[in-house]
Parts: sequence; structure tokens; C-alpha cells
Amino acid sequence: MHEDRSLEGRVAIITGGARGQGAADARLLSCAGAFVLVTDLLEDEGQALCREIGESAVFVRHDVTNDEDWQNVVSTALGLKGRLDVLVNNAGIHWSKPLREESVEGFETVLAVNLIGPFLGIRAVSGAMEQSGGGSIINISSTAGPRAFRDTPPTAPQNGDYGVCPRWRPPNSAPSASASIPSCPVPLIRR
Ligand SMILES: NC(=O)c1ccc[n+]([C@@H]2O[C@H](COP(=O)([O-])OP(=O)(O)OC[C@H]3O[C@@H](n4cnc5c(N)ncnc54)[C@H](O)[C@@H]3O)[C@@H](O)[C@H]2O)c1
Repeated sequence: MHEDRSLEGRVAIITGGARGQGAADARLLSCAGAFVLVTDLLEDEGQALCREIGESAVFVRHDVTNDEDWQNVVSTALGLKGRLDVLVNNAGIHWSKPLREESVEGFETVLAVNLIGPFLGIRAVSGAMEQSGGGSIINISSTAGPRAFRDTPPTAPQNGDYGVCPRWRPPNSAPSASASIPSCPVPLIRR
């Protein structure tokens, strides 16, 4: 039995939650009492995870680069639970190509998922979090965010949310937190 129920009654969105670290986050937050919206492009994996977690999780198909999809996720949270407390901007793609082989299109793909996506998310949830009296936004980044690695030129802007997204916070929503953290398996939420 998990003893930490500090998120009882809270509602969380976890993007890219169908597998990997996002799925681990979904299990962790639901164990701590939160109702979790697992969102991803991967419907089968996402549905299977929500069946495993049980009635405290629901899957929503969601492309984080699509603003209408973001509106749908937030509407679903409010429709089901009437509030929104946590956003984990976890969805991301890893991209590794030598600089001189990289195309503008490839670079833009990385930016769309790993930087524009979190921006759209923060913008989309801000009103609902404000109405809920505040919330927490966690942007999953990478240790590659603040420094360069050979042959992974898009990695730094991929994790531009290290330096950019933390500057966007839901206004007038104290107590709030907005943080970008390197990808690592640590407890995410402190209220
Ligand atoms: N695993 C690592 O070593 C590592 C290192 C650095 C950063 N990260 C970051 O941590 C996060 C989680 O990593 P992971 O290893 O669990 O990755 P993963 O690839 O297992 O999971 C990422 C999830 O994001 C989803 N996704 C991708 N594009 C999407 C889109 N447009 N809309 C919605 N969902 C989308 C994928 O379907 C996938 O389920 C990612 O943001 C990743 O960039 C991971």
C-alpha cells in the first residue's frame, strides 16, 4: 500500500504518458491519489496503461503540437473532474544527427514536439489552473539541455524548455510551481 496520498483529489495531465518515464509518472501520481489523464499518440499503449492503473486514470489521444488537441485534453479534465492541478510536459522525441546532415525540417520537428508542445500546454492549462487556485507544471528536459553533446545538435533547443518554458507560469495562481528538470526518476510534486 502506497502511503503518500498527498495528491488526493488532484487532477494531473501527463503528456507522452503511454510508456517510459511518462507511464512511470502516471503510476506514481495515481498512487499518490491523483486522477491522471494519460495523453499520447500511442493509443494502444495508453489504453493498456489506464486499464492497469484503474479508475483513477483515463487515456486521451493527444498530439502535443496541436493546439486543438490541447483544448480537448483540458476540456476532458474539467468535464470529468471540474479542476486541473498538475501538468507534466513529458512528451518528447530524441533526435540525433550530425550537424551537417541535419535538415531544417528535422530541426523544426524537434522544436515542434519538444519546445512548442510544452508552450502550447502551459498556455492551454493556465486558465483552468488559475480557477483551481494554482497548480504545478513540470517540464521534463534533459541533462543535454544546458550543454552540447557531439552529433546531437538539436538536443539543446530540444530542451530549450530548460530556459524558456519556466518563464511562463499561470498568472495569479499562487501557490504555483513551474520547473524544468532533467529526465530522471525522482518524485515530481511538492505542494
Ligand atoms: N530516457 C532518457 O534517457 C531521456 C534523456 C533525456 C531526456 N529525456 C526526455 O524525457 C522524456 C521521457 O523520455 P522517455 O525515455 O520516457 O521517452 P519515450 O520515447 O519512451 O516516451 C516519450 C513519449 O512521448 C510520446 N510522444 C512523442 N511525440 C509526441 C507528440 N507529438 N504528442 C504526444 N506524445 C508524443 C511518445 O509516443 C512516447 O510515448 C522525453 O521528453 C525525453 O525527451 C529522456
